[in-house]
Amino acid sequence: MTQDELKRATARAAIDYIAPKLEADGIVGVGTGSTANFFIDMLAEIKGRFDGTVASSEASAERLKSHGIPVYDLNAVDGIQVYVDGADEANAALELIKGGGAALTREKIVAACSDEFVCIADESKWVPVLGTFPLPVEVIPMARSLVAREIVKLGGDPIYRQGVTTDNGNVILDVHNLHITQPRALEEAINNITGVVTNGLFAHRPADLLLLGTAAGVKTFT
Ligand code: 5RP
Repeated sequence: MTQDELKRATARAAIDYIAPKLEADGIVGVGTGSTANFFIDMLAEIKGRFDGTVASSEASAERLKSHGIPVYDLNAVDGIQVYVDGADEANAALELIKGGGAALTREKIVAACSDEFVCIADESKWVPVLGTFPLPVEVIPMARSLVAREIVKLGGDPIYRQGVTTDNGNVILDVHNLHITQPRALEEAINNITGVVTNGLFAHRPADLLLLGTAAGVKTFT
């Protein structure tokens, strides 16, 4: 199977998982990226069976609207029943690296508001230890060099993601050469650097369920 076929299979598994439990007034949190795009296109098939969505990026909001799926501002809803999103890496504790699509801050906010976080990913994202994928860090532009120097002190090699501005008007540093054996501690340490908006480690709020697309079928991890 191709990687896209695996992504499509995990998106379908997420639809099958959430559809029976969606409430008529329920809000679905929707992530960002190619796997999330497959999910959005399939979510259109069951629109009308829930109230609407909150999107983790402008791109996902536009895609949802193109299907006629309502998109709400997060401040206009009381909570999110379930959040479905992809990941760049996932480990056995369902801790994640996210932000390859530069949407990490809004993704983390949506995850924090959600009763349940369902991660959808193909098997290439499954790792024993996080950190092979460079860890994205969203930074206030004027603090870019300051934050980079502080990250070097933590043992990482930050690379400025040229030409990318986040939906929040900030920049991204991708931190290479990390071997993240203590994800929660590193998430805290990076967030404590002045000028950091957030980082792409989802350890304090990991996924609740991982649907992993493999050649042998979609595997479920909790
Ligand atoms: C965007 C993300 C994505 O979930 C992550 O990059 C995975 O993307 P894809 O589904 O295209 O592999 O965190 O910020």
